[in-house]
Amino acid sequence: MKRIIVAIDGWSSCGKSTLAKQMAKELGYIYVDSGAMYRAVTLYFLRNHVDWEDVKAVEDALENIELDFRQNEQNGVIEIYLNDENVEYLIRDLIVAEKVSEVAAVKAVREFAVAQQQKLGKKKGIVMDGRDIGTVVFPKAELKIFMTADNAVRVERRFKELVEKNPNVTIEEVAENIQMRDYIDSNRAVSPLRQAKEAVLIDNTNLTQEEQLKKALKLAKNITG
Ligand code: DC
Repeated sequence: MKRIIVAIDGWSSCGKSTLAKQMAKELGYIYVDSGAMYRAVTLYFLRNHVDWEDVKAVEDALENIELDFRQNEQNGVIEIYLNDENVEYLIRDLIVAEKVSEVAAVKAVREFAVAQQQKLGKKKGIVMDGRDIGTVVFPKAELKIFMTADNAVRVERRFKELVEKNPNVTIEEVAENIQMRDYIDSNRAVSPLRQAKEAVLIDNTNLTQEEQLKKALKLAKNITG
């Protein structure tokens, strides 16, 4: 069976990673969460007080950042490592979420991340989710999916996820953060969030996870045969 690249883009918190992980599992492909890379870089910048508006400081800092994905032996989950430290949990914090869109808008940061993402896709057999996967990272991806969902549904989903880790988080904070990220992600100068013209739109406001997976797998099957 033909091995392909599946590019999944879309707005914040509309279930891209859930779908991407499930598709990768069903297809026997690797899954790469490109947002985790921007989050890990943001964590590094915050910890090391790197001013991301200072081009030289960013370039120097990127020289000292090594990212890789490893599979957790206990649960099989793919986790991101920043300079050999597992930061999968830390990068989901609201402190990182508040700054990640600003960091992801920096040209040098994008070049750094995109180069690694393209390398990971060399052998195909990959599902990657993000904001520019179908437009910039893999413009020739065989299958491009663009996901969306109603705003209230997205806020509710992300709130549920975050409140489990931090009971002090409020729904207003989450709503504000999602709105701000969407705005920055779609208005930045470098690789703004856009639906690739060949991308298939999946609005999952009223779809269960099973339904959206079925839909996406059907699209993949039409291509792989
Ligand atoms: O998917 P996520 O919420 O983990 O992404 C975190 C941030 O990184 C988000 O605000 C947009 C940015 N991002 C990006 O600019 N390009 C990508 N390919 C993936 C994420």
